[in-house]
Amino acid sequence: AQQRRTLIAGNWKMNGSLSANSGLLGDLLAASIESASEVLVCVPSVYLAQCDALLAKTSIAFGAQDVSAHQSGAYTGEVSPAMLADFSCKYVIVGHSERRAYHHESNELVAQKSLQALRSNICPIVCVGETLEQREAGKTNEVVVTQLQAVMDVLDDGALARIVVAYEPVWAIGTGKTATPEMAQEVHAVLRKTLAERSAFAAEKVRILYGGSMKPDNAKELLVMPDIDGGLIGGAALKAVDFLAIIAAA
Ligand code: G3P
Repeated sequence: AQQRRTLIAGNWKMNGSLSANSGLLGDLLAASIESASEVLVCVPSVYLAQCDALLAKTSIAFGAQDVSAHQSGAYTGEVSPAMLADFSCKYVIVGHSERRAYHHESNELVAQKSLQALRSNICPIVCVGETLEQREAGKTNEVVVTQLQAVMDVLDDGALARIVVAYEPVWAIGTGKTATPEMAQEVHAVLRKTLAERSAFAAEKVRILYGGSMKPDNAKELLVMPDIDGGLIGGAALKAVDFLAIIAAA
């Protein structure tokens, strides 16, 4: 984690309202975070304009939670990377397990979304992670490497160095069960090695976040691990005190 800037990212999922967001962002801004870490909130796309208005020129970056794999055209309901860029959005989560599970997103689709986001200068946060069943079957490494490899296959080395990866074990999301720091580190090291086999430069640059029930009381022990470069935080990102405590722990 030493040479990489820690990234503390909130994933609000499908939560929020104009008034709740302005309250939460107001509380975060009032804390005038002085952190060496980069702080990010990923919000429902309809609130990007609000974030652009409230967060421009502040120390909090904002991003989206999904993006189209296409740049424009007849894709009803989709939001293109260029549209996200229009609102100064810097990041987008792609391949979150909820989208893989409920919207049947394949590794190949996630790879295309990553590629198109980068074309609009938006950094994809590529989520990977195994289900409990896959972990118990001893398939964790195979699953996460296959998910990452699909993205690596469509990117050149320069683009690859610009992505962020998030390891989110599906069984730890919203369940209160966290991977132990050792369990998470083990998978992060496998992901780093996979990157290194392709490009030593990318392996050194790419930040690998941990996600899955990260809270103020377990953030520090996770974030000190050598290959854990930040967190992707769901529930605890919706409460300013908790999110701020995680930023402080980083
Ligand atoms: O993307 C973050 C997420 O899936 C983790 O959610 O609520 O377990 O922190 P949570």
